[in-house]
Amino acid sequence: MQARVRPLLRFPLQIDEEKKRLVLSNDTERIFLDGAPPYATATLIERLNAGSAADELASAVYLDQRHVSAILSVLRREGLTVEEEPETYTGQQIAALLLGFYRDWNEALFSGPLWHSLATGRALPRVLDGWLIEQYHFIRGANARLAYAAAHAGDERIRRIFARHYAEEYDHHAFFAESLRRRNIDPDAADRFGPLPTTLAVINMCRRAARLDCLCYAACSGLLESTGSDAARARAFYKAVAEHYDREGSGFVEPLQKHSDLDEGFGHGNVMNDVFGPIKSITADRANQIIETVALFKETLQLWFADIARSYFISPPFDGRLVRRHYRPRLAAQN
Ligand SMILES: [Fe+2]
Repeated sequence: MQARVRPLLRFPLQIDEEKKRLVLSNDTERIFLDGAPPYATATLIERLNAGSAADELASAVYLDQRHVSAILSVLRREGLTVEEEPETYTGQQIAALLLGFYRDWNEALFSGPLWHSLATGRALPRVLDGWLIEQYHFIRGANARLAYAAAHAGDERIRRIFARHYAEEYDHHAFFAESLRRRNIDPDAADRFGPLPTTLAVINMCRRAARLDCLCYAACSGLLESTGSDAARARAFYKAVAEHYDREGSGFVEPLQKHSDLDEGFGHGNVMNDVFGPIKSITADRANQIIETVALFKETLQLWFADIARSYFISPPFDGRLVRRHYRPRLAAQN
């Protein structure tokens, strides 16, 4: 390892300590680093993306050069760092990278406690209702995020793609409203209660991505659509939900399935590719910002799902006669 080499960390990487060993994990693997001082090594890894050269890192973390070189070699061997970042990427390269992330992230997102408990029937009916209510609000939020993204897109071609996507999406909350009615929940009452703050936070983050860069928005939107475009997975999930929660035959899952079929027909799963595909050059800085934004968006979605599961678990079943949401757990929350 040469002293002037400037290694760059590949994103995303989580750094933890477990039984005095440093654990580095990304979406697919966990790597244990033995024999390296955990604190100094973690600091070294955090400094990598500041563009420090190998010899500068040694003095910053009070380790000798030999130690630093050994740690950097391990990181490089495990594919966690690169030493030569290209100055630009093509749109197709970024799209391929994003599709790889989406595959791993969908696995993480939809195997989490909320979705797993719904698919296995372990979630309480009030949590199922809460999930439906927040999905309804979020889908309705297409009016707050997609129209906004189209308006903010500086690139004419991308604006047209967003505008068409919006025209196809703006009224899809009607499917969720119908599903709520079949669960005996009045959508007007759900409107009066309003969404959970975390549902608003997800919509807000989409809007922030749109302001930052239309490509950041396209990457976040692509993650959402990649979940909807996995038709076989969606169908299996809805079938399981119907079996567990609709023994009376209200048919509340039917509108959800129809929505999934409609989105599949529109080909919304390809929008991210359509946006990125023809772009000849994206600077490394811009590409990093896109990946960081969508990685944060994925974490925000995870927090949203956790909040839905918790909020509706500690609350009594939805009661459309109430005029506002209760945030504190109450003794009445038994059923
Ligand atoms: Fe839709």
